[in-house]
Amino acid sequence: MQAAQRNPPFVQMVGSASLHPPYVLILKRTVMAEKQPIIQVKNFVAQYGDARIIDNISFDVYKGEVFVILGGSGCGKSTLLRHLIGLNKPFSGKVFIDGNDIGSCDDEMFHHTLRKIGVLFQSGALIGSMTLGENVTLPLAEYSGLPKSAIANLVRMKLGMVGLGDYVHHLPAEISGGMKKRAGLARALALNPKILFLDEPSAGLDPVTSAEIDELILKINKAVGTTMVIVTHELASIFTVAQRVIMLDKSTKGIIAEGDPRHLKENSENAFVRQFFNRRG
Ligand SMILES: Nc1ncnc2c1ncn2[C@@H]1O[C@H](COP(=O)(O)OP(=O)(O)OP(=O)(O)O)[C@@H](O)[C@H]1O
Ligand SMILES: [Mg+2]
Repeated sequence: MQAAQRNPPFVQMVGSASLHPPYVLILKRTVMAEKQPIIQVKNFVAQYGDARIIDNISFDVYKGEVFVILGGSGCGKSTLLRHLIGLNKPFSGKVFIDGNDIGSCDDEMFHHTLRKIGVLFQSGALIGSMTLGENVTLPLAEYSGLPKSAIANLVRMKLGMVGLGDYVHHLPAEISGGMKKRAGLARALALNPKILFLDEPSAGLDPVTSAEIDELILKINKAVGTTMVIVTHELASIFTVAQRVIMLDKSTKGIIAEGDPRHLKENSENAFVRQFFNRRG
């Protein structure tokens, strides 16, 4: 619901007769900037061996938006995510991340592109023998080239951003599931990614903790403008965070719905899609 309130005021103000021309121009530019694709998926096909999982889908993700990938179990959401971050190569078709063809670029360009993205895997994947501070230090020590003291400051800042500023010296085993997710988020944010990929960020969390993660996602998106690509099943999360969704379908192996979930809930021509958005629980 909060997401729905973020864009319309800009759009409505553009072209308003009461605004002076320079402001109109700036606002027009803002609106146009919001519509620049940062991820482009074109005629994308994914297969494991001979088994086709996704058959010829195309969509864009725009700079700064919160984009959600939905669909039933086994329809290929994680498969799509793995291709978007370049862990798998498309069987055919293209995936462009910030203009670079992630499936066929050379190693140098691939690593350059990887620097622009952060990933929160479903498990959180923190290293159990390391403190939260050390976990967040890892990507910074590897890629930032900053001196140790600057890294230590950044680590405290990143953990502070997710409300874990007092837990720098704690081990993952000493904190709750929701805190682990937040620590994973801090690590994914370490290198100031342009795009953050989140696989089921609220899976296994209680509704209150899950809502806290949603708030954090929105806060980061708003404060830093990070583009978010999220796989989730949680209906409450979808309506809270998503500006646009795509829904994948196992039987057609394609996209059966695309757009604003609030609109799809009432207006999708596909009964299954309406049912998905209107289910209780
Ligand atoms: N590495 C793999 N090798 C072969 N088949 C795989 C592999 N990974 C996934 N699959 C198959 O691809 C299909 C899609 O799997 P995927 O994990 O992408 O689905 P999903 O939509 O993420 O499901 P869930 O909601 O249960 O996480 C499934 O039939 C799965 O068995
Ligand atoms: Mg999955």
